[in-house]
Amino acid sequence: MRRILNTALWASLAASATAATVDDCPGYTLSNLVQSQSSWTADLSLSGDACNVYGEDINDLKLLVEYQTDSRLHVKIYDAQEQVYQIPKSTLSPPTGQDGSSTSNSSDLVFSYTENPFSFAVQRRSNQETLFNSSGSNLIFESQYVRLRTSLPLDPFLYGLGEDSDSFVRETNNYTRTLWNIGIGMLPAHSNLYGSHPIYIEMRNGTAHGVFLFNSNGMDIKINQTEEDGQYLEYNTIGGVLDFYFLAGPSPADVSRQYAGVVGTPAQQSYWTYGFHQCKYGYQDVMMVADVVYNYSQAQIPLETMWTDIDYMDLRRTWTLDPQRFPLHKMQELVSYLHDHQQHYIVMVDPPVSLNDSDSYNKALSSDSFLRNSNGSIFVGTMWPGAVSYIDWYHPNAEAFWTGEIASFFDAKDGLDVDGIWIDMNDPQNFCDYPCQNPVQSAIDNDIPPAPPAVRTTWPPLPGFPADLQPPASDASENVVTPRSPYPRSISATSANVTGNMTGLAGRNLNTPPYALNNSIGPLYTGSIWPDLVGYGGYVSYDTHNIFASGMIAHTREGLLKRRPNERPFIITRSTFAGDGRKTGHWTGDNGSEWAQYLISIWQNMEFASIFQIPTVGADVCGFNLNTTEHLCARWAMLGAWYPFYRNHAGDTSNFQEFYRWPLVTEAAQKAIRTRFALIDYFYTAFTQQTVDGSPTTIIPLFYEYPNDVATYNISYQFFFGPSVLVSPVTVENSTSVELYLPEDIFYDYWTGQQVNGTGSTITLDNITYTDIPVHIRGGSVLPRRLNTDAVNTTTQLRDQDFEFVIAPDADGKATGNLFLDDGLSLDSESSTLSVSFDNGHLAVTGSFAYSVDVKVVSATVLGQGNGTSSYGESYSLNRTLNAAWSTDLYGH
Ligand code: NOJ
Repeated sequence: MRRILNTALWASLAASATAATVDDCPGYTLSNLVQSQSSWTADLSLSGDACNVYGEDINDLKLLVEYQTDSRLHVKIYDAQEQVYQIPKSTLSPPTGQDGSSTSNSSDLVFSYTENPFSFAVQRRSNQETLFNSSGSNLIFESQYVRLRTSLPLDPFLYGLGEDSDSFVRETNNYTRTLWNIGIGMLPAHSNLYGSHPIYIEMRNGTAHGVFLFNSNGMDIKINQTEEDGQYLEYNTIGGVLDFYFLAGPSPADVSRQYAGVVGTPAQQSYWTYGFHQCKYGYQDVMMVADVVYNYSQAQIPLETMWTDIDYMDLRRTWTLDPQRFPLHKMQELVSYLHDHQQHYIVMVDPPVSLNDSDSYNKALSSDSFLRNSNGSIFVGTMWPGAVSYIDWYHPNAEAFWTGEIASFFDAKDGLDVDGIWIDMNDPQNFCDYPCQNPVQSAIDNDIPPAPPAVRTTWPPLPGFPADLQPPASDASENVVTPRSPYPRSISATSANVTGNMTGLAGRNLNTPPYALNNSIGPLYTGSIWPDLVGYGGYVSYDTHNIFASGMIAHTREGLLKRRPNERPFIITRSTFAGDGRKTGHWTGDNGSEWAQYLISIWQNMEFASIFQIPTVGADVCGFNLNTTEHLCARWAMLGAWYPFYRNHAGDTSNFQEFYRWPLVTEAAQKAIRTRFALIDYFYTAFTQQTVDGSPTTIIPLFYEYPNDVATYNISYQFFFGPSVLVSPVTVENSTSVELYLPEDIFYDYWTGQQVNGTGSTITLDNITYTDIPVHIRGGSVLPRRLNTDAVNTTTQLRDQDFEFVIAPDADGKATGNLFLDDGLSLDSESSTLSVSFDNGHLAVTGSFAYSVDVKVVSATVLGQGNGTSSYGESYSLNRTLNAAWSTDLYGH
């Protein structure tokens, strides 16, 4: 026995002494280069002995170089056998654009390579600057590890590569960004979060370029500087291929447009979605939800949309209603009440399907659209309702199953006629720790679902609400809880065989891969479904984990479209991947009611809106976890009004934080929402532009607008709301002063109209009370602003209000602006696009006028006149149509 042990010990010691490291990897040699004008192909073969560091080296690779457009270069390195996972382009948007429309001679980007060891570089043609250069280390392409490194200038300005909460500008030393979607609260720093966006944009002396790696596998992106290697950025993926898109810029806005050319432009949203939304986890019954609606109206805070979290579900099962607390007839009354008042209603939908006595489970089972264990049985984990199975979104039957559930549950007549869907936990989360031998027992042991709250039999009357939403006449029988066993279904794993071949390479260690990703919560299976789960066609969750949500998003959108075929589907999701903005909006998850989290939200919005092309974005206003405070909530109410998606949401254990709960917050919210109302059309116009061509026109970092001003590169806490409105929130807790940077440009204080000449320096504004937020209009702009916003409670009423044009002249006395008008709802609405130009008193409206409106532009206010003294500029009455071109001379000469 002793001898055997010793031999084994020696063998393992010897093995470890000789174990290869990444430095031993031989790299590849390029051969068989075939060049056409717009594309090149070549073979890459392993240059020496395999190093097999994290899996097995793949001997033969292919290189594809495509000059897709003059500003976009596609470089793809993939295995010659095409066994390695590639994202299914039929399901996600295929990279778009005119492939092959450029040539190696005309492109703004120049590709060059070294044969042995193979490396490549991308240069900007105009100045020969090297943007990307992989020669600093050998390419490694193994079954479970792919590494490629690019050298960079020291301390580069890099943005993107989220989702995270670290900083807007990426750290450059000893820094790792991990992309592996997880559900995690409080948005900890240096952690991977809910989404994965492997796109970065780099600023170099006024010029921008972008690099997008179209790969859904988990990856660590290391940004580091060492004496030996200099500054570099290194991709370390645990699979997939190297599918790069180099985007030439040269402006940051160009990069955003070019990125949209690859992943698609964002979805247009309905006008009403820009109103104010209220939610909380823990509204215990439909009456409490109605009560909140009532209280908002009493407090005269405009409420556009009421939301309900998982509380409405029966034992937390998706596609059910709690019969005692959220009975269908009362829910229908509530929805009708809201719709009658031009308000909206949204509920949450979670991805997994409960095994507990659920119709849906049987439907999903018979449609064969569940993810399976590697032995072919259906995977069972736990989530809010207890034992659950997970939809295989890429199964051909998944769409019919999911859209069918949406159609019947959200049926306008017999179901719940919601106006949008909120999808959550789709990172995806699973509460039962690996290997989760007994999910039913685990759910029981962990008390999930917890006992529902007591059924209330009395509640205060709600004047003006329908009878069904009033206190019961007596203790009605519907209010008696019938005890039910929460876990009636026993689980017998089916032995159905998995069809198709395993995609990817056999023999991979999927659950604990040899390269341990820097997943902040532990091994890859932690808190989620196992990486070795198998889906249709044999793909494994290891490869598709980061696009689990993308499938759910796509089918949810289809489901909404089936119900209301010509209406823009409104979806808010927690988890996202590159390109999901085409179909969904995003909220930034479970932040906390802390000042630091308020700050993070500012740059997260810029990142999602301008870099990731998901401009429908917002954070939980006043914070989700912990208890907010009056001052924090007031500040956040003022900030949230400048998020594209403005929703107050709190956790179940947090105090109630509806805006009406404090006088100060009520005042802040009234002002914030009414200001937002005044500018919704301006923002809607800007947003529309982004949906058309990807122009970053929604929440915009300062460096996008002033790329030559290097001082803007580090600004994380100021942003443009649309191209003309600069928002500079209070950044210091309990302070009433704001230090803000004004680039060299003319600005006008939004509240006073006073001209402020920016000099490329920081100014301090004092006396910013809790109902204030510094906002400036950029010189050179015309803002279409709705009037009488004090008189309206919803965006529907807002659409009946006339406009004024707020004219903020530049140094030459000129200004321009746009106004986009349509029905704000349908996918095929007629529209008008008005261009407004102002030149030293001459005001002209031109454009297209297919969508006609009754409202008028009743006045124009020119800022900076009257020497910027007491009055808010100089006002001129107009009373002009928005249905035809016109011009006038305001100064009357
Ligand atoms: C997690 C979500 O992030 C949060 O917003 C929600 O309230 C809870 N799940 C409960 O559904």
